[in-house]
Amino acid sequence: MIKIDRLTTGYGRMEALHAVSLSIAPGQTVAVLGANGAGKTTLCRVASGLVPAWSGSIEVDGVDITKASSVERVRRGIIQVPEGRQVFPEMTIEENLRLGAYIHDRVRAEDLDLVYSLFPILKTRLSQNAGLLSGGEQQMLALARALMSRPKYLLLDEPSQGIAPKVIEQMGEAIRSIAATGVAILLVEQNLFLAEAICQHAFIMENGLITADGPTDRILKSNLVQDSYLGA
Ligand SMILES: Nc1ncnc2c1ncn2[C@@H]1O[C@H](COP(=O)(O)OP(=O)(O)O)[C@@H](O)[C@H]1O
Ligand SMILES: [Mg+2]
Repeated sequence: MIKIDRLTTGYGRMEALHAVSLSIAPGQTVAVLGANGAGKTTLCRVASGLVPAWSGSIEVDGVDITKASSVERVRRGIIQVPEGRQVFPEMTIEENLRLGAYIHDRVRAEDLDLVYSLFPILKTRLSQNAGLLSGGEQQMLALARALMSRPKYLLLDEPSQGIAPKVIEQMGEAIRSIAATGVAILLVEQNLFLAEAICQHAFIMENGLITADGPTDRILKSNLVQDSYLGA
């Protein structure tokens, strides 16, 4: 269980998140939907320790990690797939995957097998530079690399950004299989398609505030999302 409680943070003197609370249970896939600038990336960063919390708390499996380093959080299973993929373009696909296992003493064959079964395309192109992959394939690689560190909590920052609908569908299926193994997933998105396909519960974020939440289908049927996007 990851539990974020009245978390506030920002940049310089600007507060970007205002007392945000949400929790994710093991195996649950939760969406945070919001317009550009709402604070979605900041939420991922504060959870993974890249941005310090100003107040409030983050708890993982009953342990307070509000002040823990990023490395400590990775050890506890919190893994972020950052916005804009950020694979290493000059390294091969295999090297990118092996880097994902850096917190473990060695690369485990069963982890590679899992990744190859989820994304067969990667296996066929192991010795190619990651920079040669399409945008969608790079996003798959970024997700695959995150899996190599055996996440318990996966934070996905706009994985569908700039990706064709057919590839988003594939990605959705892969994320669903990952969740089925018990991994908890926080999906932050501007695009509603992926959230609709894979998330049971959705939060709406507006200007650093959670303004609504509920079952994803209900949230998407209401005008709340549209209103929040127009308001931004
Ligand atoms: N590194 C930064 N320095 C200063 N302000 C930032 C920085 N990153 C984000 N912000 C600001 O924080 C707010 C939330 O941004 P962000 O979390 O990136 O939103 P989203 O991911 O929802 O688009 C915005 O007003 C943005 O301009
Ligand atoms: Mg963002």
